[in-house]
Amino acid sequence: PVIYVITPTYRRLVQLAELTQLAQTLSLVPSVHWIVVEDSQELSPDVIRLLQRFIGLSIGHITHLHGRMPEQFRANDSTTPYTSRPRGASNRNRALHWIRENVETGVVYFADDDNTYDVRIFQEMRDTKTISMWPVGLIGIHGVSSPVVDPSTGYVKAFFDGWIGDRIYPVDMASFAINVQLLHQNPDAVMSYRAGYQEDSFLKSLNFTLKDIEPKANNCTEILVWHTQNGNYKSVPSFALKSRFENTNVETLR
Ligand code: UGA
Ligand code: MN
Repeated sequence: PVIYVITPTYRRLVQLAELTQLAQTLSLVPSVHWIVVEDSQELSPDVIRLLQRFIGLSIGHITHLHGRMPEQFRANDSTTPYTSRPRGASNRNRALHWIRENVETGVVYFADDDNTYDVRIFQEMRDTKTISMWPVGLIGIHGVSSPVVDPSTGYVKAFFDGWIGDRIYPVDMASFAINVQLLHQNPDAVMSYRAGYQEDSFLKSLNFTLKDIEPKANNCTEILVWHTQNGNYKSVPSFALKSRFENTNVETLR
């Protein structure tokens, strides 16, 4: 199956540097269709030029769209901190609309432009039947966010994350992939404009159960994607996730 990689992006100092890194990562992945969606009123010449070098050469298909954040959700002044704004929602919704119109089969993954992807994560997600999940490194106070797999059943039974909040699915956008079928079965599933709750509300609107989640990355014990960002990190992620979970009362995590 083709993996449709949705990347929201916006103009800032590091934009072209980060898109170059991601483009080169995706150049190592077979059967990828990259959907780059700018948070802007029109496509920008710099991004067009960058993508042009990869289309049909190292990356099979690239679709370049734009979907500007509606005015009421934009931060028009410095009184709204960056993390209180919904980031990437309008552009992801533009991409979801494009997929529903143009794609029958495949796998969908939301790959933000600033994360770091081990190419093995694409191998892991490719056979996603409904929804697959795995850990993400460099998230929050524990340095990792991850589904917790019950070893006796093989099912995801809880979630480990430094901030559970009001969420059923306390996971990062980079932690899951879905089969296109699930989008067609749930035509109203879209990204919400509530900062911090995009993943949770989107996943809830896909109407699956914990048993539908296909755990990847060695039963969610390996980190194959990193939530790198221009900022402070709180903790070094441990690859020994299993022992971390074993010492945690996971029932309290949800
Ligand atoms: C975290 C999650 O990793 C995001 O996937 C989620 O959208 C976000 O929280 C949220 O809940 O709003 P974080 O790393 O803090 O994200 O945010 P960024 O990486 O700065 O932004 C996420 C994506 O949206 C990036 O691909 C970025 O280029 C894009 N973005 C950001 C825009 O398109 N417009 C903006 O104004 C800001
Ligand atoms: Mn980010």
